[in-house]
Amino acid sequence: MQDIQEAVRLLRSGGLVAFPTETVYGLGADARNPQAVNRIFQAKERPHHHPLIVHIADSTQLSQWAKEISEEAYLLATTFWPGPLTLILKKESHVLFQLTGGQDTIGLRIPKHPIAQQLLTAFGGGIAAPSANKFTHISPTTARAVEEELGKDVDVILDGGACEVGLESTIVDMSGRMPRILRPGMITAEQIAHVLGKDVACKEEAPTLMRAPGMHHLHYAPTTKTTLISTDALSHYVHTVQEEGPIALLLYSDRDFSLPASIHVTRMPRDAVHYAHDLYHQLRLLDNQHFKRIVIEAVPSGPEWEAIRDRLTKASQR
Ligand code: TXA
Ligand code: MG
Repeated sequence: MQDIQEAVRLLRSGGLVAFPTETVYGLGADARNPQAVNRIFQAKERPHHHPLIVHIADSTQLSQWAKEISEEAYLLATTFWPGPLTLILKKESHVLFQLTGGQDTIGLRIPKHPIAQQLLTAFGGGIAAPSANKFTHISPTTARAVEEELGKDVDVILDGGACEVGLESTIVDMSGRMPRILRPGMITAEQIAHVLGKDVACKEEAPTLMRAPGMHHLHYAPTTKTTLISTDALSHYVHTVQEEGPIALLLYSDRDFSLPASIHVTRMPRDAVHYAHDLYHQLRLLDNQHFKRIVIEAVPSGPEWEAIRDRLTKASQR
């Protein structure tokens, strides 16, 4: 509680507070303080046109930030909040342009982690918070990872242990005529479609000018060269690249590959929920060990794997 009070004091004086959410750690600032919000962009080395998510304590605050909120948007809010879902809605006129990248919409989310809830409730206002990593890097899922990413650029880091979900929230655009997933997450398009009782468009169908996450090719990426490879091609590929130097392999299947003894193998969980929980942590561990390359085995094609496939694809563009 002492830490929460101190964090609130820092937020009120324009400071940066890293805090745990159930998805990943966020780098928070008072969403109504333009100088504080600018500090987020500096700390992350993030381009200024890239919009931020505003976190709120409860849905009564929604109308302070957004307008023309549809019944469908409220339905998603009551179904999935607090939780790993971000709604894109038409913004209220006071909303700082730094938060929206100059667009007429705002991203809003109520996180579930108890520390995030305590912080938001004690602060009483909106907290703008992107993931607490340098731009394009892997999002942090532990307080230690935040420290590695941002060090002294953040005024305090609230330690809430390892994040439960491990991947960033699902982002659904509810500002247009049709609901549209801009970033897949562990709440799936199917779940959202089921709640709304209608189809939901996915990112591929989004207009190309939309500033959706991951439009930058390099996103959620280790600094080590990373390759995503199908199960069938894996053994041959690993034999080919092992001459480059030490190789790390993130395995999904339990198939018995005949692999060179020098390969560093990490076996990932077989189910999507646990795989998502571990992914960024494992990638970060490998990234810190100076491998020549990280090779990742592709994961299954089911809907519960979609967010993971999205992040693996983006992590392997380097
Ligand atoms: O799980 C999460 O969403 C985490 C935790 C901390 O809440 N936050 C997070 O924030 O992943 P960030 O900034 O790393 O990613 C948010 C993405 C950005 O890539 C941005 O493009 C998109 O949300 N976004 C925010 N506002 C938007 C808007 N008005 N329209 C379209 N995309 C928006
Ligand atoms: Mg991010």
